[in-house]
Amino acid sequence: MTKTILVTGGAGFIGSHTAVELLLRDYRVVIADDLSNSSAKAIEVIKTLGSADVSFHEVDLTDEALVAQLFDEHPIEAVVHFAGLKAVGESVEKPMHYYRTNLTSTMNLLSQMAQHDVWDFVFSSSATVYGTPEQLPIPESAPTGATNPYGRTKLMIEEICQDLAAADDRWRISLLRYFNPVGAHASGQLGEDPRGIPNNLVPFVMQVAVGRREKLQVFGGDWDTPDGSGVRDYIHVVDLAAGHLAALEKLRAGCEAYNLGTGNGSSVLEIIGTAERVSGKTIPYDVVDRRSGDIATSLADPTKANRELGWRADRNLEAMLTDAWRWQSMNPMGFAEN
Ligand code: UD1
Repeated sequence: MTKTILVTGGAGFIGSHTAVELLLRDYRVVIADDLSNSSAKAIEVIKTLGSADVSFHEVDLTDEALVAQLFDEHPIEAVVHFAGLKAVGESVEKPMHYYRTNLTSTMNLLSQMAQHDVWDFVFSSSATVYGTPEQLPIPESAPTGATNPYGRTKLMIEEICQDLAAADDRWRISLLRYFNPVGAHASGQLGEDPRGIPNNLVPFVMQVAVGRREKLQVFGGDWDTPDGSGVRDYIHVVDLAAGHLAALEKLRAGCEAYNLGTGNGSSVLEIIGTAERVSGKTIPYDVVDRRSGDIATSLADPTKANRELGWRADRNLEAMLTDAWRWQSMNPMGFAEN
């Protein structure tokens, strides 16, 4: 029997790529998304690249009655929860907005799941829960401690999940701690489409390459790294989507955290160099002061996910940026132009 999966935030960057992979594996997909930071056009693309077995609901998950309705209307057997606010700087300005949105929506989901006898939950967490890491690469057992309200919502939700699983052994929960998701679908039809000025490096680099922005700022050239710029563990979004399928298929009683990363680091200057090569464009940049809250290096130890989920991120930096560039060059204004 085909399983029905609720994908919250399924119109967003990682959610949409995961929805496609689920459909290609013959799952039925119910997408709930309020479109506050995503486009309905992504839903049409998901149907083209995956299959038409998608039911889309434009809902705000902070309204519990609407969440209940999703479970009443569909035979949902598992939930993959991406929906949430995710801009670090904005979370510092509007902490209540972040706590209310991210925590209320998740608590509504979890309580409606229990009421509808659904216990399988995959949560979109983040390497941000490691705060400033003391050990590299970072294993799941490393101490946690977020440094901003956005990160704290991720950590609090992880803790809520652990408490629920401890209280009731029907729960089967995976907390997926993503490192730096980048890239796009190989078709060039689905990709990252941030509203306003991108906060993250790769979308900014791509917008410079396509001529939407003049120049990149490199935040710090004096980090304790091989070339002085920040090092991150970038992971292709399609590999990340595959990680969600592996987690869903390997769920077991309790609550487990998994790092989803490659275990390889790339610096900002390497990203610029590779992006210039794959796009054939020059990417002008200035090295400026460090961004507040940044760290020198973030690197996953993905051994646990490799071993327990039978999953590995295979696509390299060149593939990530080639796909990101295909998406950006085919859709210079993102979904707005399709
Ligand atoms: C950021 C968030 C993190 C969140 C993640 C996913 C911060 C401080 N951290 O991670 O909490 O989970 O995004 O959305 O915002 N860089 C530049 N110039 C730019 C942008 C970035 O030099 O215009 C550098 C950064 O200093 C960093 C690297 O590029 O070294 C990656 O930055 P970014 O893509 O924003 O990711 P993180 O900071 O790792």
